Amino acid sequence: MDTPSVDIQNIRAKYNNSQEPYLLEENLPTTDPFSLFDTWFRDVASQSDLTFEEINAVSLSTVGKDLRPSSRMVLLKAYTPTGFSFFTNYTSRKGHQLEENPNAAMLFYWPKVNRQVRVEGVVEKLPDEMAVAYWNSRPLASRIGSKSSLQSEVVPNRQFLESKKAELTDLAEREGSHAITKPTAWGGFHLIPRYFEFWQGQSDRLHDRIVFERDMDIWLLKRLSP
Ligand SMILES: Cc1cc2nc3c(=O)[nH]c(=O)nc-3n(C[C@H](O)[C@H](O)[C@H](O)COP(=O)(O)O)c2cc1C
Repeated sequence: MDTPSVDIQNIRAKYNNSQEPYLLEENLPTTDPFSLFDTWFRDVASQSDLTFEEINAVSLSTVGKDLRPSSRMVLLKAYTPTGFSFFTNYTSRKGHQLEENPNAAMLFYWPKVNRQVRVEGVVEKLPDEMAVAYWNSRPLASRIGSKSSLQSEVVPNRQFLESKKAELTDLAEREGSHAITKPTAWGGFHLIPRYFEFWQGQSDRLHDRIVFERDMDIWLLKRLSP
């Protein structure tokens, strides 16, 4: 039997904001967007099974010198009062684009809590010591996987990657896992925001949108129409 087609036009999930029904200016924890991000991240973390749900998966958009935007998911590995960090290969497509143009945007979407967060700003490379420290904390299999791949390069077939992995697995067995060192081109980026938008879905479609925009050293807060 054929699988019935999905009636896309009539998909309408109900939003149930039992925790915090509306995003009201007077209830915001503070006028600091990092602290509101922290509150929202903790909220979704407390309601998720972190073994299966990658609440730190975030869409990253970049635009290189050809001015064509491209997006992909990355895993957020840290957020601090200055910005948002992730790790990747500096010679990947995104790496080249960020070299050409450091402006980038991140998009978090947490359907469980009907919330979206947009972050826009400029990236800087993280110091190599941080990349080494994080690389060394990763499981051996992840390190072998990353090191087997020249990210974003064309490869002839899957077997090509499997043989790289087999070579590195042999090396680790012979010399120990410390032999799987961080590739020079593998490192971190830190996105320093100038714009945040916190979106909370409402079933009546009058969604809340609160923007924080940096003006020199202060954050200006405004509400946008949904
Ligand atoms: C949930 C998820 C998490 C990912 N995390 C990362 C990551 O942290 N770093 C990374 O380089 N790629 C990550 N990827 C792979 C990227 O989406 C992408 O395929 C890869 O970075 C190459 O992108 P580029 O060719 O645009 O540079 C992830 C993919 C998914 C689906």
